[in-house]
Amino acid sequence: MSDFNLIVKERKEIIDNYLLSLFKNDNKYNNTLYECMEYAVMAGGKRLRPIIVMLVWEMLTGEKEYKKILPIAASVEMVHTYSLIHDDLPCMDNDDLRRGKPTLHKKHNEAVAVLAGDALFSYALEMFLIADIKHENLLNGLKYFLQCVGPKGIVAGQFVDTEIEKFSRDEETLHYIHNHKTATLIEACFAIPALLLGSNESDFEKLKELGRKSGLLFQIIDDILDIESNEKTLGKSTAKDIEQNKLTYMTFYSPDRAKELALKQYEEAIDIIQTLDFDTNIIEKLITYFKKRAK
Ligand code: IPE
Ligand code: IPE
Ligand code: MG
Ligand code: MG
Ligand code: MG
Repeated sequence: MSDFNLIVKERKEIIDNYLLSLFKNDNKYNNTLYECMEYAVMAGGKRLRPIIVMLVWEMLTGEKEYKKILPIAASVEMVHTYSLIHDDLPCMDNDDLRRGKPTLHKKHNEAVAVLAGDALFSYALEMFLIADIKHENLLNGLKYFLQCVGPKGIVAGQFVDTEIEKFSRDEETLHYIHNHKTATLIEACFAIPALLLGSNESDFEKLKELGRKSGLLFQIIDDILDIESNEKTLGKSTAKDIEQNKLTYMTFYSPDRAKELALKQYEEAIDIIQTLDFDTNIIEKLITYFKKRAK
């Protein structure tokens, strides 16, 4: 196993163990709700978002000490998982498979899946606020996080994605969807550690930009994989974007052209990394992994 794979594996184990400790049953009435949240979160998943949070924290502090940042890392994974539960619902993408397992609405029912998503979102905010971080910085981080995931962020992107017939099918709309439904959360994962540490404005802006480009890179590759990969590898159904008339990179570009555009985001991300005054080795490898997902 390469050094980088080992680093990711170690961080993934830390966040997985931490997440596992968070869904203890409460009482006979909300038992099943906790089980559903746990099912969706622990089903699998690459944990890329919490790993980004941990690696950027490590880069900025120069220490491999995650106690303070783990609740934040768990919070972003919970928001991500809630967005997937809702994304898979029949009224949205109507998917039966997620993280290699039946989607929550298939395992239980739609109402339960909606509620488990709601519960994960509010639990995520609670987790964010219990982190042992200077209060002023924590509130700055939370405000920015909510801007990235709410009606100016993920939800806006998902709204346009699902109501696409009300918008023009052009590249501007495509960029709006991708920047909002996916890139804003990845941007948040890169930039939140800077807010929590009270870093200077310049580092915060650079991390935001780096996160935005990495997020766009990530979603372009997700679009390519929908047609080039398979269910077994991805743990979710493929070849659905065209069937559902989604506006994706495959709508306008060939897979080769989309890969070129992904490479452009990658190169711009690397340029930003090179302006950072930290040990950026691992972060650079992480972005390279994003790019390599669709060889
Ligand atoms: C899937 O994200 C949804 C997108 C934004 C493309 P991931 O590919 O990170 O999904 P998991 O967390 O590994 O399941
Ligand atoms: C999902 O985008 C983005 C969010 C969940 C916010 P997709 O619909 O492309 O993700 P997959 O392909 O189902 O994982
Ligand atoms: Mg979707
Ligand atoms: Mg989907
Ligand atoms: Mg997709």
